[in-house]
Amino acid sequence: MKTLDEVALKGKRVFMRVDFNVPLDKERHVTDDLRIRAVLPSIEKVLASGGRLILASHLGRPKGKVLPEFSLRPAAERLAKLMGKPVFLAPDCIGPEVENLVAQLKDGDLLLLENLRFHPEEEKNDPEFCRRLAGLADVYVNEAFAASHRAHASVEGMAHFVPVCAAGYRLQKEIDYFRKAMDNPQRPMAIIVGGAKVSSKIGLLENLIPRTDYLIIGGAMANTFFKARGLETGKSMVEEDFVEKARQLLAEGDKRGVKMLLPVDAVVAGEVSDGATSRQVPIDKVSADMRILDIGEKSVALFEAALTNCRTIIWNGPMGVFEKPPFDKGTFALAKFLGSLDALTVVGGGDSASALRQAKADDKVSYISTGGGAFLEMLEGKELPGVSALDKC
Ligand code: 3PG
Repeated sequence: MKTLDEVALKGKRVFMRVDFNVPLDKERHVTDDLRIRAVLPSIEKVLASGGRLILASHLGRPKGKVLPEFSLRPAAERLAKLMGKPVFLAPDCIGPEVENLVAQLKDGDLLLLENLRFHPEEEKNDPEFCRRLAGLADVYVNEAFAASHRAHASVEGMAHFVPVCAAGYRLQKEIDYFRKAMDNPQRPMAIIVGGAKVSSKIGLLENLIPRTDYLIIGGAMANTFFKARGLETGKSMVEEDFVEKARQLLAEGDKRGVKMLLPVDAVVAGEVSDGATSRQVPIDKVSADMRILDIGEKSVALFEAALTNCRTIIWNGPMGVFEKPPFDKGTFALAKFLGSLDALTVVGGGDSASALRQAKADDKVSYISTGGGAFLEMLEGKELPGVSALDKC
């Protein structure tokens, strides 16, 4: 895989696939610009080298229709603000008008194309669409780690039609950190997994149990494991169809000598609402009318004690309903603690990244991935089509 430093950029039309699929508020303002800030070094590199930069991205899931609410305009505005210069947004991503705009680019100029997913061919990886995108470029750069698990035209297909391909700096960094944490980790190693559903994390757990020393499970997905251990979970969310799988995973971890840590206490309430009355109970004292909504203080202490000596830690998924106080404490405590450790700490997933930010620990961990689904697929041990395409060209 070539990097940006290894390809000639001067005077070249450089098509850079970025992931500007950023969260927006009701007024369509960008609420988190990590994915835009993350690719600024690659953008600056191309412009400073005299490349003619064409940026392309998707935003949301417009399902092949031109829907104004999915326009990349808010991202264009935020990029312009970050760069301190105007960013022109093309009306489309292919077609004569776009070709004309690209032809007018001078060395060091930049153009952002409109949402690739306004065309159904993007998600279908349609060869003709790939060719049309490729026709805009001399050099293709994948700087969209967070979209690299999608075998879409702008992520995978077009790389085969452009003469020169390279990885953007951030994509390279994502893969480097991942390899550092996974391929030859300093030990002890810990994986912390949280979030709502165990069903979405089976592949990850199966891939990671044979590699890790500690597996810490929190969030609503822990409930399914409690059930597997025969504990009362009250009105908590449990994936009944996965109780047996949870039992097998616990047995597999035990067999391999992995320290499998589940919460030993919980913050429970009758419902998730503002001002709900909550209390902490030992995990074997959850009553039938209660819901488990966060890990308790004893669990935090247990997890911290395990993590203190770890040299490599990967975290994905919150420990409770961290958007709603008072059920945010477990996740924030963990986020702060990770920030205090002298270890390789790699965090992925929008919720964990957001918790780190809110806990003011985002600049204290080793690395925060821009990927959600892409990060998960890496943890599952899958190859990302967008990365494989770069290896092949
Ligand atoms: C993401 O936000 O995870 C990426 O931008 C991919 O978006 P998608 O899940 O809509 O393909």
